[in-house]
Amino acid sequence: MSDFVYSKKPIRIESGDGVYMTDDDGTEYLDLGGSYACVPLGHDHDRVKDAIHDQLSKLTYVQATYPVGVREELYGTLADAAPGDIDNVWLCNSGTEAVEAALKFSRSATGNTKFVACMRAFHGRTMGSLSLTWKNKYKKQYEPLLEDIEFVAYNDSEALAAAVDDDTAAVLLEPIQGEGGINPATTEFLETAREATEAVGASLIFDEIQTGLGRTGRLWDSQRTGVVPDIVTSAKGLANGLPIGATLCRDWIAEDYGNHASTFGGNPVIAAAANATVSTIREEEIPEHAAETGAYLRDRVERELGEEVRDVRGEGLMVGIEVGRSANGVLRDLAIDHGILALPAGRTVVRFLPPLVIEETHVDRAVDALAEVIT
Ligand SMILES: Cc1ncc(COP(=O)(O)O)c(C=O)c1O
Repeated sequence: MSDFVYSKKPIRIESGDGVYMTDDDGTEYLDLGGSYACVPLGHDHDRVKDAIHDQLSKLTYVQATYPVGVREELYGTLADAAPGDIDNVWLCNSGTEAVEAALKFSRSATGNTKFVACMRAFHGRTMGSLSLTWKNKYKKQYEPLLEDIEFVAYNDSEALAAAVDDDTAAVLLEPIQGEGGINPATTEFLETAREATEAVGASLIFDEIQTGLGRTGRLWDSQRTGVVPDIVTSAKGLANGLPIGATLCRDWIAEDYGNHASTFGGNPVIAAAANATVSTIREEEIPEHAAETGAYLRDRVERELGEEVRDVRGEGLMVGIEVGRSANGVLRDLAIDHGILALPAGRTVVRFLPPLVIEETHVDRAVDALAEVIT
């Protein structure tokens, strides 16, 4: 028996250690994308594993209305890590749920219904976040979705300012579009979003599910521009591979969030993993390491493959290489011939979202392999 939703890769992964994963034949793969940005500290990380084991032997579940030390610690950890004066935390189990909550909280706090989102955006697959996701391929079969949504071109400040009006509940943006092809927002675009939402009392939501937690060389990518939103969504690597989502918001949103809940949100074992993950990322200066290693990666690709590829984009260890041909073909050759796992971002972009602990030697191996595949 098999599930019917996923197309299957021809590799059966059995274990992971640091930046490597190993299949059932004992072949080792360098994981530059196989774990989809979900293991920032690498596989089988000791501090995270110890925190999980420790919590497992104490308590695996109690509902979120019961105060529990490890969960309260995570509220504090995230409030402390969140940008600006954002210090309210709601925990759930995935990225799409974190976005759903952000949309619901925005509607409740503003009393408005309209959402403004961007062309080529990706925010998740449940009905609300799917409605603000751009690609028709993901949406068509499930319509009708949410109404009252206006899409504007990414980085078109004028169009964004014009779309935000008195009916707007929120503007939802990725500071760097991931799935959409690794497109960084300009400072002007984010500043326009901030001014336009403030002018009408709408909320500004930054979806940092892929960009957050040090990946782009800062704890949150929005720190690149200094623009502070009203809500930040986080998920993916927040518990170094265990399922979690978080919606972090300012007081005015939290004070009037409506009525919301999730049975497993704030699970103590997951909270222990998240505390260990976020603390390690901050204490070990992982964002700085991501900035340096990412710059080294982009620089090597530009120097050695500049003629062969159309563009190299991104920040830190969120890197997209426009290869000008089928990304999937390149990815297959990288995996089968070179033991390197990466991701597509659209049809022609090869995307690297490795564990943030990769070293320059891993980058060297990846760039040499990419050069061989492409040339
Ligand atoms: C920016 C962004 N938002 C939301 C999501 C949805 O997260 P999840 O798959 O955990 O629901 C993703 C997942 O790739 C994402 O990259």
